[in-house]
Amino acid sequence: MTILGIETTCDETALAIISDDRIVDEVTISQILKHAPYGGVVPDLGAREHLNNLTKFGGEFLTRNNVKLDAIAVASKIGLPPAVQVGEAYANGLANALKVPLIPINHVIAHTWGVFVDPVFTEKPQFPFLALIVSGGHTQILKLTSPIEHEILGTTIDDAIGEAFDKVAHMLGLPYPGGPAVEKAAEKGARLSKPFPIPLKGEDTMNFSFSGLKTAVRVYIEKNMPKEEQYKPYFVADACAEFQRSAFAQINERVAKAIEQTGIQTLVVGGGVAANQSLINALATLYLEKGWDTEKLFVPNIKYCTDNAAVIASYALAVTKEKSKQKFKNRNFIRSS
Ligand code: KG4
Ligand code: ZN
Repeated sequence: MTILGIETTCDETALAIISDDRIVDEVTISQILKHAPYGGVVPDLGAREHLNNLTKFGGEFLTRNNVKLDAIAVASKIGLPPAVQVGEAYANGLANALKVPLIPINHVIAHTWGVFVDPVFTEKPQFPFLALIVSGGHTQILKLTSPIEHEILGTTIDDAIGEAFDKVAHMLGLPYPGGPAVEKAAEKGARLSKPFPIPLKGEDTMNFSFSGLKTAVRVYIEKNMPKEEQYKPYFVADACAEFQRSAFAQINERVAKAIEQTGIQTLVVGGGVAANQSLINALATLYLEKGWDTEKLFVPNIKYCTDNAAVIASYALAVTKEKSKQKFKNRNFIRSS
């Protein structure tokens, strides 16, 4: 089965073709430079860029890959509404013209498919597994029993972790997107004498919260930002390192709870913040401390952490296969005597 995936939920316009679990071709056009002057994603500007990109590169991509498509999958519902709608309209038009089914895909769950699509992983995670989705719009721990059955064990009660990274970066005068800028600055950071609080620490929950941490960073900046320019980079580095330490301590606490409660050690990490090496180091340290099997911790290549179309197409393929497997299982076999 050959599926075209389309992703336009935020600031990446992406197309990918998957054929029988193999990436045939993929293209991702980043809009970062267009949004950077505004310090964040401007939804209407994003929608216009998606339209331009799809018109310009979509046709080129399809001509270059002259293959028969069996379905069109599109990242749907979750994302910035004007941006999502452009992808949906384009995918719908294409599906109608080619007379193939249109498969709307929940892009948050699709983030789990980064490791499935990443050719580096020859051994794929086995069901049931846990998924940690850490993106600009979501922070969730899920339990997946199949590609079409999942349970949300925990979710953020306020800001998403990526959003917190972006806001902290903005407060510290770092460029958009904030995540990579905070990670880079944190590399040179030292410990603060008074660490930022770890939100929901010790509470009996699998939910997340980042707004209190964001406020703690804001108050710290207001009280302590040095006046002298030459000291500012040190101040920023320390604040970034401490912010990451607190945010990742919270993630580790929730992950530990989820693994201990479910008895499932297989954890798949996805979403833009999974690109952060300190987060992955923190998770690996947790696995080592707890004596868990680090082979069961799956983190895709950075390219498959952030928004991309290969995960959309690959997840659509997995959903289609699972649905037909279940339909076959539930079929009544009638024999004529
Ligand atoms: O999954 P994604 O590409 O888009 C959404 O679905 O939101 O995630 C984007 C988010 C942004 O908030 C960005 O700042 C964050 O991922 N991000 C990072 C890193 N790279 C991207 N956060 C922390 N460290 C990074 N290296
Ligand atoms: Zn995403």
